[in-house]
Amino acid sequence: MSFKDSVQHFKTLVVSFHPVIVIETVEEERVQTLMQKACSDMQMPIFEWSIAQGLMRSPESPDNRWQNEYAPPGAKRGQALPKTAEPIDMLRHIQDMSFKAIFWLKDFAPHLKDAVVARQFREVVQQFSLNRSTIVISGSGVALPTELSQDAVYLDIKLPGPMELQDAVSKVVRSLQGSRVKLELTPEDVHALVKALQGMTLSQTRKVVSYAALHDGTLNGEDIKRILDRKARAIHEEGLLDYFPSETNAAELGGFEGLKRWLAYARVGFTPQARKFNLPAPKGILIVGIQGCGKSLAAKTIARQWNLPLLKLDAGRLYDKYVGESDKNFRRAVVLAETMAPCILWIDEIEKSMGQSSSDADGGLSRRLFGYFLTWLQEKSQEIFVVATANDLSAIPPELLRKGRFDEIFFVDLPDADERENILKIHLNRRNQGLAAYDIPTLVAVTEGFSGAEIEQAIITAHYRALYENRSADTALIIEQIKRTVPLSVTRREDIDRLRALAKERFVSAR
Ligand SMILES: Nc1ncnc2c1ncn2[C@@H]1O[C@H](COP(=O)(O)OP(=O)(O)OP(=O)(O)O)[C@@H](O)[C@H]1O
Ligand SMILES: [Mg+2]
Repeated sequence: MSFKDSVQHFKTLVVSFHPVIVIETVEEERVQTLMQKACSDMQMPIFEWSIAQGLMRSPESPDNRWQNEYAPPGAKRGQALPKTAEPIDMLRHIQDMSFKAIFWLKDFAPHLKDAVVARQFREVVQQFSLNRSTIVISGSGVALPTELSQDAVYLDIKLPGPMELQDAVSKVVRSLQGSRVKLELTPEDVHALVKALQGMTLSQTRKVVSYAALHDGTLNGEDIKRILDRKARAIHEEGLLDYFPSETNAAELGGFEGLKRWLAYARVGFTPQARKFNLPAPKGILIVGIQGCGKSLAAKTIARQWNLPLLKLDAGRLYDKYVGESDKNFRRAVVLAETMAPCILWIDEIEKSMGQSSSDADGGLSRRLFGYFLTWLQEKSQEIFVVATANDLSAIPPELLRKGRFDEIFFVDLPDADERENILKIHLNRRNQGLAAYDIPTLVAVTEGFSGAEIEQAIITAHYRALYENRSADTALIIEQIKRTVPLSVTRREDIDRLRALAKERFVSAR
């Protein structure tokens, strides 16, 4: 919903006798702008209340705001009505007011825990449902008591769109004029800047743009990349997604030839030519396989090969403490990812977040999340390539494995001799070892049945030993470590056999 639609929606709610509108956001400034626009159309006054200030009449237009970043210190502020800071006093006051108005109560929900306040609130609400006055409650995580929630309607305000962002940028630029900052933005730069800012709140936008301008005294095309970086960091801080920038991604994957071939082929789907022929961009792949065989590493490699930013969705963090929040978290994660498109969204161990839970203990939460995910995967319009990985096939809902969900499903088995050779070389090289000193064919032979992770671990422990004993690592030392390790392929033979039997004939081999 665009900002204009939100305004329209808000007006409709007010005139159709909705006495309580809840707007969940931390961006009070946008609530303000929205209400100012709507109320000036409807010719209704706005009153705002906070426990700190009490009740006061809001300024009519955003330009005569008394409390924004551009107001000089000491600017004249509104006058609160006397004795309205206490919730109960404020409610009584607005009940007695004889004209229609919008009453914006900031962070009000917690006060409804008080029985007297809650009762008074209900009485005001009953009255308002007859006379078209409306209470707006804003805040984050607004939870109303059940008996009150039936009178309330929730209004979702989306993140600012291009127009609002452009407006915010212009304001910052204007505020910088006259300072020593050089402004060197072409119209194309402004366009790219606004695109880079997509997904930020207005206050984040202002901070980011001001910082970019002030830290080196110019605002120019160069800053856009920096802003993208900062955006990625902001995404990181929200805690739902981990971000791996393409430049620092040094993943090196041995083997996986089949997957690598497929990737080279699918890459054309992201080109302008593909758009010209109305070909859809690739949707994503699922990598199923044995633990420690490089599934996660493969996800990183794809991002590296395609030179795209990689966003990792942390399944555990989706499950917020509030039941019902996890699908909201997922939606939020998707929105964030969309602001980074084109990018890769990596859902590691997908069975953990969207798998079939053995009981209904989570109230069908993972099912709902899964349903939402499937719809999104089917309909997503942005260039987001999904890489999902899974260990446990039995926990994956069969719908996810049907043709057409993912572009391809790959199965990763234990590495064969060629792959083990590759993996050994990668990890010896990483420890700055000349390969000539090692008997690679022997190492390949003794690591039969070992996963990539186990091979890497043996090389690491051998080097630790060598350092400790003050000598250099060699083939014998590595073999010793290998002999000491009982690989998963032995301890979990049945699991692995089962996975193989299920996966081998159904999915494409990753090699
Ligand atoms: N094919 C490979 N090439 C190079 N290194 C590998 C390969 N397979 C595994 N490794 C090494 O093992 C480590 C663990 O691999 P990774 O985390 O990708 O496995 P996974 O399949 O995701 O395992 P899990 O199921 O436990 O998540 C990697 O960081 C890498 O160092
Ligand atoms: Mg993994």
